[in-house]
Amino acid sequence: MVELRLKNITKKFGSLTANDNISLTINQGTIHAILGENGAGKTTLMNILSGLYDPDRGEIYINNKLVHINSSKSAIDLGIGMIHQHFMLVPQLSVLENIILGTKGKYTLKLKQKRLEIQQLIDDYKLEIDLDAKVENISVGMQQRVEILKVLYRGAKLLILDEPTAVLTPGEIENFFNILRQFVNQGNTIIFISHKLEEVIKLCDVVTILRRGKVINTFENKNLSPQKLATMMIGEHTKTNLTKPRLSYTETILKVDNLLVKNIHNISFEIKAGEILGIAGVDGNGQQELVSVIMGFIKPKKGKIKYKDIDITNWTTEDIIKQLSIGYIPEDRKTIGLVSSLSIGNNLILKQYYTYPFNQWGILQKKAIQTVENKAITNFDIRGVEPNITVGKLSGGNQQKIILARELANHPQLIIAMQPTRGLDIAATEYIQQQLLKARENGAAILYISTELEEVRKMSDRLAIIYRGKFMDIINPNTDLEKIGLLMMGMTPE
Ligand SMILES: Nc1ncnc2c1ncn2[C@@H]1O[C@H](COP(=O)(O)OP(=O)(O)OP(=O)(O)O)[C@@H](O)[C@H]1O
Ligand SMILES: [Mg+2]
Repeated sequence: MVELRLKNITKKFGSLTANDNISLTINQGTIHAILGENGAGKTTLMNILSGLYDPDRGEIYINNKLVHINSSKSAIDLGIGMIHQHFMLVPQLSVLENIILGTKGKYTLKLKQKRLEIQQLIDDYKLEIDLDAKVENISVGMQQRVEILKVLYRGAKLLILDEPTAVLTPGEIENFFNILRQFVNQGNTIIFISHKLEEVIKLCDVVTILRRGKVINTFENKNLSPQKLATMMIGEHTKTNLTKPRLSYTETILKVDNLLVKNIHNISFEIKAGEILGIAGVDGNGQQELVSVIMGFIKPKKGKIKYKDIDITNWTTEDIIKQLSIGYIPEDRKTIGLVSSLSIGNNLILKQYYTYPFNQWGILQKKAIQTVENKAITNFDIRGVEPNITVGKLSGGNQQKIILARELANHPQLIIAMQPTRGLDIAATEYIQQQLLKARENGAAILYISTELEEVRKMSDRLAIIYRGKFMDIINPNTDLEKIGLLMMGMTPE
């Protein structure tokens, strides 16, 4: 059981103050939300709590006792468990191995018993996890549940969740909230970071708002509305209305015929210029595989993929990226979206580093790259940019903005977007949606995959519902939610 008190916590990175004299009390048995824009300092503060960073100044008290959290291990020993914004699982190992990794006891000797204990947690918390699956083969949604299981198994009493619902579907969220409440009702405590204000209002007892590294306010969750919260976070804010004018393009840009591959069963569809085809569905129903086939990461067993008149069915990813006008926003920005150790500029030109003006006589042209970088920073409002900063050090939302800046830069005719607004704050989300709608108006064909039903409905011209690798139907996005819900669960409404 933990009551946590932070006193004057300050953390600087170079000239940037990520946490500025933060004082905060987190009461035991509560769910405490920390809100703030991309780059406000939320993750940094949590990294301090979980022993990943040392603060430059300030103290941490647990039950009025001064503690020093100087490693992940000391955090765990104090009962603090953190689930990171980016998963930290080992892809090549099984789920079970990932959970057991680093826990005490002889691995082989107690394996059977550990397995039983872990399975018990899965059942208690209804986590639906396959212990024998390899992590690299499971969906992001399941990976997230594995992360939760991992800290539960380590006996966490204070759970830190950094954007935990970013990849869950409405049904899963409900279930997930029940899990969290069950945890807190047993006298435990949760710190909850999210950009989804409705969820914060639904779940949390107390809210703290950070702005540019400072605590702005802490208050109880009473009579709050998303608008009120948004105003406190970023000041007066008028919600922009997304407009989706009717367009008259006729050319088909992407045509997929009877595609068959592992986890995909005979999917067919086409997307015209100026059209957004949304795909809604519970995470892990074939979305990732579908995108992987289109992008050439895996070869289909049967079926055909055409870009305009070109048959690209068996093209390599490299050729697809180099030769077609395509923008690809991957689900997992950490592993395939960005190179963490490179600068912002170099990440922005990743697909063009061998071409003019970025490369002349085999030499990278710093000035040209800098120009692209400056433009992206302004247009996409990328925050936290220090001289020579590598992309891995930017906040989650700011990393996502870089992928979008790169993938939309050359006005692609086909855009494959998976969870494009994941981890973005309100302002950035609206900006990205506007950019994608602008691309649509300019004639881009867009495949928009999201587990956020409201979002995908709002953006799409037509909406496909995917279930167990099949399209249940392609419908009008304004179809009522109940019907969409049934289709998402694999049922055909009367
Ligand atoms: N290791 C680091 N080196 C340099 N700057 C860093 C480092 N870690 C974080 N920062 C900077 O500190 C600031 C706060 O980042 P942080 O990740 O805490 O933001 P956040 O509130 O979690 O944002 P988001 O909502 O986008 O995840 C950002 O400007 C970020 O670029
Ligand atoms: Mg963060």
